[in-house]
Amino acid sequence: MSKLISVSLSPNTQKDDVSLAFKLIFSTRKGGTKKLERLFRNYFGFRNAFAFNSGRSSLIAILKAMEIKKGDEVIMQSFTCNAAVNPIRYVGATPIFADIDENLNISLDDLKKKITPKTKAIMVQHTFGNPARIDEIKEICSEKKIYLIEDCAHSLGAMYKGEFCGFFGDASFFSFGRDKVISSVYGGMVTINNELLIDGVSSFQKELKNPSVFWTIQQLLHPVLLNKIILPLYNMKIGRMIMALFLNLNILSKAVTKKEGIGILPKYFPKKMPSSLSYLAINQLKKLEDYNNHRREVAQYYNHLFLKGEIDSNNIYLKYPLFVDNPSEIINKLRKHNIYINDGWSGSPIVPPSTELDKVCYKLGSCPKAEEISKKIILLPTHINISKKDAKKVFDCLENIRQNR
Ligand SMILES: Cc1ncc(COP(=O)(O)O)c(C=O)c1O
Repeated sequence: MSKLISVSLSPNTQKDDVSLAFKLIFSTRKGGTKKLERLFRNYFGFRNAFAFNSGRSSLIAILKAMEIKKGDEVIMQSFTCNAAVNPIRYVGATPIFADIDENLNISLDDLKKKITPKTKAIMVQHTFGNPARIDEIKEICSEKKIYLIEDCAHSLGAMYKGEFCGFFGDASFFSFGRDKVISSVYGGMVTINNELLIDGVSSFQKELKNPSVFWTIQQLLHPVLLNKIILPLYNMKIGRMIMALFLNLNILSKAVTKKEGIGILPKYFPKKMPSSLSYLAINQLKKLEDYNNHRREVAQYYNHLFLKGEIDSNNIYLKYPLFVDNPSEIINKLRKHNIYINDGWSGSPIVPPSTELDKVCYKLGSCPKAEEISKKIILLPTHINISKKDAKKVFDCLENIRQNR
C-alpha cells in the first residue's frame, strides 16, 4: 500500500505529539498556558504574548482592544479564509476586501483605493508564509492613523527585512490550528507592539471562560484518532467513512464549521486557551525551526523539479502554491495515487468554497485577481511528514496527468 500524502490531514503530527495528546486526555496538567506564553515571548523576543483557543478568538481580542465596532471598516485581502473575516463581523464592523498581488498577498494599489474615513484597521495576511510588504503598509497606516493588524496565521517564524512577522503590526496574531505552522488542533496567540492596546487584550483574556472539557477532549482526540485509526485506512473507503462518522458524531471537530460559511461563529469562540492544548503547542513550538527548515527544503526541491529558481529564505512555505488550468480535475486524479491535496483553499476568493460570499460581505467581481487565482491554484504539501521522495511522487503524478490530458 502506498504512503498517504496529504496537505491538511494532521500534517504536523509526529509520534511524540500523538502520545502526548493521548496522555493529556487522562490528566489535568495545569499551568500550560502561562508556560506557552512565556516560551512564545522568549522564542521570538516579543514583549508580550496572550494565548487564546484559536486565531479567531485572538483576532476578536485585538478588535475589541482597538474598540472596533459597528460602522467601522477593516480592510483585508481577498483570497482568505472565512475564519479571518468572521471575527470582524462578530464585533459588528464591516470587512472591506482588497485584491491580491502575484504573491497572493494584499495589493498595495488596491489597498490604498479602499481606505475611507471609516477605515479603522488594515489587516495584513502573510499568505502561506510569504511575508507581505508590511513596512510599506505600516507607513500608510501611520500616515492615515489607521491600526495595523498582522494576520500571522500562516507565517510563524517567517521573516521580513530581518524581523519576525508579528513585529510590525500594532497587534499581531498567530494560529496553532490543525494545518497551520505548528498545531495544537486549535489555538492562537496575540502579541502587541502598541502599548496602548495591552490592557485591552489582557483584560479581555482574563474575562473569557475556558472552553468546555468536552471541547478540549475533542481536540486532544484529533491527533490520536487520525494517526492511529483513520490515516492508516484512509486510502480505503472505510477510513474515510470512519472519519465522516467521527465528524458527524462530534467526536472530531471541524476546522471551520458550516455555519461559519454564512458568517456565524461557533459558541466556542472567543475562549481561553486550555492548559492541555497549550502543552501540545509547546511540544510543537520546540520543533518550529526544524519544521520550517524542512518546509524550505521541500519547497526548494519542488522549485528544482518545476525548473524554477531559488526559494525566498524569508518565506516558510506553509504550502507550495502551483497554478494549473483545472484544479478540481487534478485534485481528483491525484486521489487515485493516495495523494490528497484538497485543503479547501481553491475555487473561491473566500475559502472554503462553500462560503456564501454575500454573507461575509464579499461582492463577486470586486477582486478580479483573487477570483482568477482561486480558480487556478493547487497547494502541494511541504510539512515534516513529507519527504523529498514524496514530493517527487507528487511531481511525477502531476506530470503524468499533464501529459495524458
Ligand atoms: C489566513 C487565516 N487567518 C486566520 C485564521 C484563523 O485561525 P484559527 O483557525 O486558529 O481560528 C485562519 C485559519 O483558519 C487563516 O487561514
